[in-house]
Amino acid sequence: TRPRVVFSGIQPTGIPHLGNYLGAIQNWVQLQDTASANDKILYCIVGYHAITLPQDPVHLETERFNMLASLLACGIDPSKSLLYNQDQVPEHTELAWILNCITPMGWLYRMTTWKSKLAVARNANSEEEVNESMLNLGLLAYPVLQAADILLHKSTHIPVGEDQTQHLELAQDIARAFNHKFNTDIFPIPQQLSTPTKRVLSLRDPSQKMSKSAPSEKSRILITDDPAAISAKIRGAVTDSNPDITFDPTGRPGVSNLLSMLAACTTESSVADLDSTAQLYRGKQIQDLKRDVADAIIARVEPIRTEYERLRKDLAWLRDVSQAGDQEARGRVGQTMSEVKKILGL
Ligand code: ADP
Ligand code: NA
Repeated sequence: TRPRVVFSGIQPTGIPHLGNYLGAIQNWVQLQDTASANDKILYCIVGYHAITLPQDPVHLETERFNMLASLLACGIDPSKSLLYNQDQVPEHTELAWILNCITPMGWLYRMTTWKSKLAVARNANSEEEVNESMLNLGLLAYPVLQAADILLHKSTHIPVGEDQTQHLELAQDIARAFNHKFNTDIFPIPQQLSTPTKRVLSLRDPSQKMSKSAPSEKSRILITDDPAAISAKIRGAVTDSNPDITFDPTGRPGVSNLLSMLAACTTESSVADLDSTAQLYRGKQIQDLKRDVADAIIARVEPIRTEYERLRKDLAWLRDVSQAGDQEARGRVGQTMSEVKKILGL
């Protein structure tokens, strides 16, 4: 079989939450640990994506180390995976520019993440002038940079959560458009790899995904939360007024999210039968379920939290890991960039 190139990225905009972990990072570790010798596994901390929204420079530098320590604590092993900083490899933005020049703007205006940012910007200022100045060009072009990240490594498999499906489809379209326009097969068409837990929901508003950027800290469980914090957040998780415990993701997202987090934290990686999980709670109360969910999450998160605390103190080692990764990544991408420029006549 053809060697796989696995690639994914995460923004250094806060400690990963349980959605990041169950929807993406856990899968990253599994892919790394089951890779064959010919496969290449690459994970990237995407600082250039982070700055599409305002970031305090001092804080951003700290966040990059927080993310590095988080990924290592989750089990990413730099001797098996190439772990590096996107912003230390200039070819990411170089290829992004080239892809900008073949991507119709209509493809970007259709992105749901762009449309929701637009709606927020317009609505937030509805009583004053309509202020869209926070909507910079980078925010619109964000998915093209993501396509460049993927294509720069000629990646074949992309482990990301369900929220990224539309962006991944755009990367596929851009790869096809480039190949077609220049009559080449330089870029493989990357395929999405999803986890069984595709979408973990906010604990405060289960109509939304759990997200780093939601204002309330109570809406997400961080991989660095201690047992007391996890228990409190799960106790406060919003459900509904129906006292029965049933699995119904559309009608009852809150309780269904609890069941799916429980299954994800207690079973290996197989698709759990959440209806039968729900039946185990027949005649029991939501508090019983919440207690079990909290215990299951604590059992998964506690070893990660303690490892994070240990690693985060060792800044010298974190710097070594990050510099070695950046250097190896820079060494890998020159070839593709030369091929691309030659194709364009540059
Ligand atoms: P966030 O949206 O929280 O800022 P990122 O955009 O950095 O996180 O996404 C990192 C990875 O985590 C992506 O693969 C994304 O699909 C995944 N992810 C983010 N939120 C969730 C969620 N609530 N459920 C499942 N996967 C998620
Ligand atoms: Na996201």
